[in-house]
Amino acid sequence: MKRRTLVLGGLAGAAGLTLVARPRDVGENHAPYFEKLAAALDQHQRAGPTLLIDAQKLQNNVRTLQQHINNRFAYRIVAKSLPSPDLLQRVMTLSGSQRLMLFHQPFINAVAERFPQADILLGKPMPVAAARNFYQRFKVGAFDPAAQLRWLVDTPQRLAEYELLAVERGTDMQICLELDVGLHRGGITSTDQMQAMLDTLQRSERLHFAGFMGYEPHVVKVPGNPLRYRDQAVDAYRVFVDTARQHLGSEWPEDAVLNCGGSPTYQLYDEGEFPFNELAAGSCLVKPTDFDLPSLADHEPAAWIATPVLKRSDSLHIPGIDLGPLQSLWNPNRERAFFTYGGYWKAVPESPQGLTTNSVFGRSTNQEMLNGSSTIDLQPGDWVFLRPTQSEFVFLQFGDIAVYNDGVITEDWPVLPENGPRAS
Ligand SMILES: Cc1ncc(COP(=O)(O)O)c(C=O)c1O
Repeated sequence: MKRRTLVLGGLAGAAGLTLVARPRDVGENHAPYFEKLAAALDQHQRAGPTLLIDAQKLQNNVRTLQQHINNRFAYRIVAKSLPSPDLLQRVMTLSGSQRLMLFHQPFINAVAERFPQADILLGKPMPVAAARNFYQRFKVGAFDPAAQLRWLVDTPQRLAEYELLAVERGTDMQICLELDVGLHRGGITSTDQMQAMLDTLQRSERLHFAGFMGYEPHVVKVPGNPLRYRDQAVDAYRVFVDTARQHLGSEWPEDAVLNCGGSPTYQLYDEGEFPFNELAAGSCLVKPTDFDLPSLADHEPAAWIATPVLKRSDSLHIPGIDLGPLQSLWNPNRERAFFTYGGYWKAVPESPQGLTTNSVFGRSTNQEMLNGSSTIDLQPGDWVFLRPTQSEFVFLQFGDIAVYNDGVITEDWPVLPENGPRAS
């Protein structure tokens, strides 16, 4: 073969490859559902970044959860993943559960005040100073911390610190022990350690053993068969419970809370005998993208970030060496640029479909650039919707949550306070 033919052949091959690899236009305009959300936001005079919850979808998710749990376990609502008192109230009403799992001292104070009937379990071991802050800020009312609040303790050291606090304040404290059932994020790792802590609890006049918490999200996250890891976690949990029952004998509390599970795993306990009596879950009720898991296939997304488009440009330009025209020549989905009110949240663009951030231009919490194809006909003032990757923390960034109900924003739900009032 002549050298020229080879070169031409090579060029043609490269051009063919180029045609194959060039991205196609994936842009679309809002589907009718998002058009309705946008109209509802306009009607409600929302004008900035807004966290929106679809009440109907939330309700569907609670029903789905109930069908799985099917009263075989008590259900504990993970409040950090649904961090708004009205949202919690809605889930409590729909599910009939008064059990809440909390992870942040100001939230404990706020929840104790708002839900005096609640049964609270801490989801992480709080520094003793945070526990002290809770009591200093606690407004005496119908909620009785000595009976309704279960602190979580992971080590003998923390147990000793809590004992001192209980004596100092002259208050009884309910104590649940954190178990390591395979996640390796702390917690008790051996029955010897557990028995020593149970002994301390038995000797204590102020601290009372109230149960266990063992969390096992690794079961569906690590590669391999989730049921194998589930069984290992369950076996570990069972050994702790059996040993504790034997150790305490008649002093085993009949109302012991034996907590397990989270959104990613709660459906793994639909059938069978398990050593715990309640399952915790929160995120699956709003389903951010981190929860797009096979184990949650029957839950539906129920929360979006909506934000107005401020500017539109029909061509892409980037300061300095302008790579914008090159980017859009190669990729039709980079033809247009839209700038939104705020951005850079833990979230991914959802509607209109085909929008992406531009890493060459950079990210912005003030005016984020999104690129899309010329199919996308967004104008300044229109809404863009993103799906949060997680609800925890993200929900706290937008002020009142807009509650969407069949075409209308029906309520505005304030979120929990990140910082409670200082003790006087
Ligand atoms: C102790 C504990 N239980 C349960 C959960 C599950 O929460 P979610 O259902 O929102 O994933 C978590 C989440 O971090 C947790 O830390």
